[in-house]
Order: sequence, then C-alpha cells, then structure tokens
Amino acid sequence: MSRIPDSFIQDLLTRVDIVEVVGSRVELKRAGREYKGLSPFTNEKSPSFFVNPAKQMFFDFSSGKNGTAITFLMENDRLTFVEAVEELAKRAGVDVPREGGNDAPRLVLDGPLDALAVAEKFYRTQLRTHQPAIDYLKKRGLDGETAKLFNIGFAPESWDALTRLFPEADGQRRHAIDAGLLIERDGSDARGSGAYDRFRNRVMFPIRDTRGRTIGFGGRTLANDPAKYLNSPETPLFHKGRNLFGLYEAKQATKAELPYLLVVEGYMDVVMLAQHGIRNAVATLGTATTREHLTLLFKSTQRVVFCFDGDRAGRSAAWRALEQALPEVFDNRECHFMFLPDGHDPDSLVQEIGEAAFRARIEQAQSLSDFLLSELQKQVNIATLDGRARLPGLARPHVEKLRNGPLRALIVDELARLTRLGRADLEAALVSKAKPEATASQPTDGGRRVETPGAKPVRLALQLLLEAPALAAQVEHLGQLETLNQPGLDILIEGIEFFRENPDANAAQWLEMHRGTPRGAALGRISAMPLTIAGESLAEEFLDCIALLRKRAIRERQQALLDAARERPLEPAEQAELMALMQRP
Ligand code: UTP
Ligand code: MN
Repeated sequence: MSRIPDSFIQDLLTRVDIVEVVGSRVELKRAGREYKGLSPFTNEKSPSFFVNPAKQMFFDFSSGKNGTAITFLMENDRLTFVEAVEELAKRAGVDVPREGGNDAPRLVLDGPLDALAVAEKFYRTQLRTHQPAIDYLKKRGLDGETAKLFNIGFAPESWDALTRLFPEADGQRRHAIDAGLLIERDGSDARGSGAYDRFRNRVMFPIRDTRGRTIGFGGRTLANDPAKYLNSPETPLFHKGRNLFGLYEAKQATKAELPYLLVVEGYMDVVMLAQHGIRNAVATLGTATTREHLTLLFKSTQRVVFCFDGDRAGRSAAWRALEQALPEVFDNRECHFMFLPDGHDPDSLVQEIGEAAFRARIEQAQSLSDFLLSELQKQVNIATLDGRARLPGLARPHVEKLRNGPLRALIVDELARLTRLGRADLEAALVSKAKPEATASQPTDGGRRVETPGAKPVRLALQLLLEAPALAAQVEHLGQLETLNQPGLDILIEGIEFFRENPDANAAQWLEMHRGTPRGAALGRISAMPLTIAGESLAEEFLDCIALLRKRAIRERQQALLDAARERPLEPAEQAELMALMQRP
C-alpha cells in the first residue's frame, strides 16, 4: 500500500487534540496539568490513565500502554495505523495524501474492493435461487439467520457467471482478477484469452477485514472436489497470515471488550458456534497460526483460547501455536488450549452437546503454562535424576521467548518444583550465556514509576526534553557531545536536533517518527516517567545534565588522544585539539 508521508502525520498531530480524541471515548477529569480517567484497557477501579495535553500523549499505568492520539485509536478502537490516521484526518477535516501520487494508489485497492463487494452480493443472491446449495446448508444444520450474519453465498457451477458481471471493456475486469475472483487465461489456452470464475459450485464464506470490508472468500465445494475448501489467493488486500475469519463478526457481536476469542480451524466451526450463541470464534484461513494472527487477536481481547483436535495432529498444531504465542503473552494477556474429543470438530461437537456444555469445556481449557510444562514433561522421565536434569535445557528455548513478568516467574517456579533445583541453578540453566537480562525493578507510586535520585543524565535529559521541547534551543556545542560513547545519547541528540528544527513540535510528533521500533518503545516509557522537578528548575536541571555529559565527552576524548600519544606521535591537528581540550574547565 502506498505510504502516508511522515510530514502529513507530523502535521496531523498538530491539528488534533488528544484530550478531545480520548475525551470522546473516556471520561476525563482535570488533574493538574494532565487529565485523568479510568483505563479503557483494563477493568481498574481507581483511575491510573492520564492524558497529557502538552506532550499530546496518553499514559495508562494499569496496562503499561502509552502513545499518541494515533496509538490511542489503534488500541481503543482497534484500528490499524492507516485507519487511525484516516479517522484523525476526518476529525481534522483534511484528506490523507499518499506518497507517489495522490489518488492513484488508492484506486488500485478500491477497484478490487468494489469487485469483491459486487461478488459478495452476487453470491448471496445466487444462494437464494439454488435449491441444492440451500439443501446442503440445511442438512448441515445451518439456519437462515446465521447465513445472513456471515453473508454466506453460493458460487454457481459455471465458468463465467461472475466473469460476465465484469465486462472486459470497462476496466472492472482487471480489478476482479486482481482481487482473485477471476482467473486470467493466457493466450495459449485453447479457449482463447479472457478470464473465468475461480469459485464454482461452492458455498461461499466472505472473509472480512477489521473494518468489515470483504477482502477474500473461502469456498466449500458441494461436489467431491479434492480441494474441499478453496480460498482466495494472496493479494495486496488479502493475506492469510494476517486475517482471521469471523473476527469482524465477533467484534460486531458485542460493544464491550471481548472477554476472550476462541480460535478454531474451520469456517463451519465459526459459523456453527455463532449459531449456538458462541459469537466469539475465529478461524485461521487454512494456515497455521502466525505471530501476526496473535498480534491481531490481542488487539481485540486479552485472552485467546485455541481449540484443536485431540489427536496427534491437533496436539502438534497446538504446540506450533504455543510457540508463536510465547512472545506475545505479557502484561494481562493469556492463552489457553482446549482439545476436542476424537472425531469431533467444534461444528459437530456444539451441535451434539449444545452451548452450555461447550462453554464448560472452554472454561476448562488448559493454561499455556500447563500445556507447555506437560508437553515438556512427556519428553523426559521426571522420576529420574537424569530426566529432571534435562528439563531446564528443554524448557530454555521456550522460556527465553517469554518476557519477564509473572507468567515467566510462575513457570520458573514450577520448573524449580519439578526439577528440585535451586532457583539460582535453574535460572542459570534457563538463560543462554549470551545475555543475562537485567530485571531492574523500579519503586512505584500508585503504578507510576518514581524518579530515582541520581538518575542517569541521558535519561533525565530526555525526560526533561520531552516535558519541555523548547529546551533544545538552549544547547550549545552539540557537536562535542557526539563523540561520547554512552547508551541513549544518540536518541538525546536526535531529539535535540528534532526540536530545534521543529520548535513548535510536541513529544507525540517525535514519538510518532519511531512507531513500532525499540526506540519508539523506549521514548514512550521515558515520557511516561513523571518528573518531580518543578517547572522553573527544568532548564537548570536540563543544562546540568548536558554539561555533565559534555564534560564526560571531553574527558573521554582527552583520554583517547593521550592513549594515542603513547603509541605514536600525534598529528598536528590532534595536538591542537588536545591542547584546546586541556584548557577547558
Ligand atoms: P477440515 O477438512 O477439517 O474441514 O478443514 P471442516 O471445516 O470440518 O469442513 P466441513 O465441516 O467438512 O465443511 C478445516 C479448515 O481447513 C481449511 C479450511 O479453512 C477449513 O475450514 N481447508 C481445509 C482448506 O483451506 N482447504 C481444504 O482443502 C481443506
Ligand atoms: Mn467439519
């Protein structure tokens, strides 16, 4: 997709006010220079959600989320980045430009989207008049209401029923081909050039994106076609690894945050569960669960329940899902795994046992840690010393994928119990030699981190700069700082340069330039740290930090030149530099 220019994002963030954007969705009360409310992301009872108008950022200390107005819409309204930008642009009354020509790249997507909408309508009308298809769905127990809910349709047994709706002459045909609805014949084909229908004699399940637009289809054959299900091919609009069947419908089914999402394998499973009142099931599209699926799922819920067959294939699919999930379960996120009795899929089971019994099974799903540890234990004989000794090594690649937090701690506790190893020995066995990760825990004050005295000058300077970007103008001789080898200094220098070039910019604008990067995450965390320094001393404190850093830079450079002088005669320029440095205070 064509990119939205950074300059537009920057401009947009000056045109909207995050207090208004958030205020229309969360009840906010003024608290000093900030606004305060109950977190929309958790069920907290006392407010720890803040909006800072100067920084144009929000900070949620109950979930750890923070960011700009764009981030807020992405998280709260569950929009993609582009959707969030479009929403804000609409508020601000401006059009979103695209790089590389204003409208052209959009048309490329609008065309196929229109073609998909045309096809969906066509398939739906076809279903009404094709008795064998209706009979088939009836036989499977599907009622009309549910079919309507999912816009289920039927592709007739014809090579050109759909193709004829897209005459070659008016350019629409190309869009239908690009959308994967029609297949283009090349000249060598005996039937001549042209196109024909991809889906024939199939019950059609539209796959919608998070905005409800149909982006592809899954089609189940009514005949004995070896391809029982045929899915749309990958197109610029449709990526199987990034979309889930039923997600839009699940989100539509409730206004509130979904308590959980149930991940099943098949289209019919989703549809039949919905018919039985379980409206929050989604299906992967004939692929294994990807990391992107998990990101998508966790945008809409805090709890994901995977549902697999109880057989070996099901267990190994569950294990692959677990491996994708490990890096994504942190904060309040949870994963569970449920396994079905032999010979059943959710479609057949819910029809047999009904909603309540099915829900009871969901409630009994195994937790991620249980599933992980029980599968690992199957690989060793826990009754023997040797078996216990092997367990940490088997667990390590998985435990490594978890972020530090309660889940990791509990799994390590359980491993300690199982292996009877001491905590220190176990941790040593679980951490690969490369990176002993520091778990610096900060003192907290109602969830907010408290500034530690003597905080590192780089971080403090950054905090101050984010609080008062105008400070950037006061830094002299920025060049001297650049030679200093200190983590985070490059970010500080970038920030100073950014706010010098953009004197009216706020913290959100700088942050938005680093969306989705570790630097962006670090900046978000640093802006969330409250300052205990009063307004009038901000500049003084900031300049102290810079002076301290400059002194370190000078000392480091001096030392480097002195070291060099011991090895070789210094160049004249180096000598002059050293002299100048020695004369500074
Ligand atoms: P199943 O073969 O388990 O089918 O495929 P099902 O959902 O029980 O189908 P019904 O009940 O016979 O209609 C599960 C899922 O795997 C994908 C589809 O997404 C299907 O829903 N699949 C299966 C394909 O993509 N292609 C196939 O040929 C078969
Ligand atoms: Mn089935």
